[in-house]
Amino acid sequence: MRIRAAVATAPHTPLEIRELDLDEPREDEVQVRLVASGVCHTDAIVRDQWYPTPLPAVLGHEGAGIVERVGAGVTTVAPGDHVVLAPAACGACAHCVDGHPAYCVDFYPLNFGGSRPDGSKMFTDHDGEISSNFFGQSSFASVTNVIARNVVKVPENVPLEILGPLGCGIQTGSGAVLNVLQPGPGSSIAIFGTGAVGMAGMLAAIASGATTVIVVDIVESRLEFARELGATHAVNSRDTNPVEAIRDITGGEGVNFALDSTGVKDVFPQMLASLATRGHGALVGAAPLGTEAPFNIGTLLLTGLKLSLVVEGDSVPQLYIPKLIRMYEKGDFPFDKLIRTYEFDDINKAFEDSESGGTIKPVIIY
Ligand SMILES: NC(=O)c1ccc[n+]([C@@H]2O[C@H](COP(=O)([O-])OP(=O)(O)OC[C@H]3O[C@@H](n4cnc5c(N)ncnc54)[C@H](O)[C@@H]3O)[C@@H](O)[C@H]2O)c1
Ligand SMILES: [Zn+2]
Ligand SMILES: [Zn+2]
Repeated sequence: MRIRAAVATAPHTPLEIRELDLDEPREDEVQVRLVASGVCHTDAIVRDQWYPTPLPAVLGHEGAGIVERVGAGVTTVAPGDHVVLAPAACGACAHCVDGHPAYCVDFYPLNFGGSRPDGSKMFTDHDGEISSNFFGQSSFASVTNVIARNVVKVPENVPLEILGPLGCGIQTGSGAVLNVLQPGPGSSIAIFGTGAVGMAGMLAAIASGATTVIVVDIVESRLEFARELGATHAVNSRDTNPVEAIRDITGGEGVNFALDSTGVKDVFPQMLASLATRGHGALVGAAPLGTEAPFNIGTLLLTGLKLSLVVEGDSVPQLYIPKLIRMYEKGDFPFDKLIRTYEFDDINKAFEDSESGGTIKPVIIY
């Protein structure tokens, strides 16, 4: 069938909106008509080839939509169901079976490989095949085919226009906090980077009862907004040393928990230096492959710190995304405040506004 999609053609080049042919859903696939898709920083870095997904490619990995057709072997969803699309995982390796699909042994090829597991690509145009199945979904398309295992059924009373980002950015930041760091009531946390990932982590920390919530960024407007959403302290690390500021705020001790959502190599040692003795830090920001951020093992040993490297919030999307929706409905997780919507034709403006810091979570509406 003919569909419309935004195609990444070259690094640092705007996406091109084109008409493409979408092939038939396979036996284990679901055909989904997208209602909306979030734009994540990871779309921008793959467009720019930090990770070498072959171009041209249809990116997009925060899709939300309505099931149109299902393959003969699909029993978990039916046409008309509202769904959020989650990252792909094999479902069979030790990590998948153990409830940690973000660490699937095939996570990289399934999500960044640019094709189905069998090598086929679902999109073509007059120039030939176009990489597809980005994060198992390629959601910058009006209609797409997704393996049923990566589809999360969601309630119909919550608008699909806001739900797509739960599939990546929002589950990444919040899951690093709720599933991995698990700050208890009365605890302190520092969040480095107040994009969608960091802000989701911040909202999760507030929902967990953390009482000292420090945000660090270099964009003043984002820091101000974080304070409106409940951060207790904001530090602009463009003009203030964040480690000293965090030590001051915590009476010299440092924070119990920290989240680095920047992917900036100089921020990682700042996060470690901000932690109190036996603190726990999580790194979620993506850096170019090969980036090194050395740390001082001589000094750090005595601190008993814990460090976690967290992919996709280490969640089981079919369990975790409905949980976030329940928290949202109760008023404990107002992630919709991070969203600004864009028409599909304005997708490059959405990327620009995310890059400049003007929009925290752009969502494309089809
Ligand atoms: N681990 C995962 O599974 C996963 C999933 C989704 C996204 N990511 C990655 O997480 C990161 C955050 O994503 P996002 O959508 O929130 O991106 P974003 O670009 O909106 O947010 C990053 C924030 O970091 C801030 N920043 C940059 N340099 C800084 C510095 N020196 N000190 C303090 N703050 C600084 C930026 O101003 C920005 O607000 C990206 O690297 C993205 O690729 C990882
Ligand atoms: Zn993402
Ligand atoms: Zn697996």
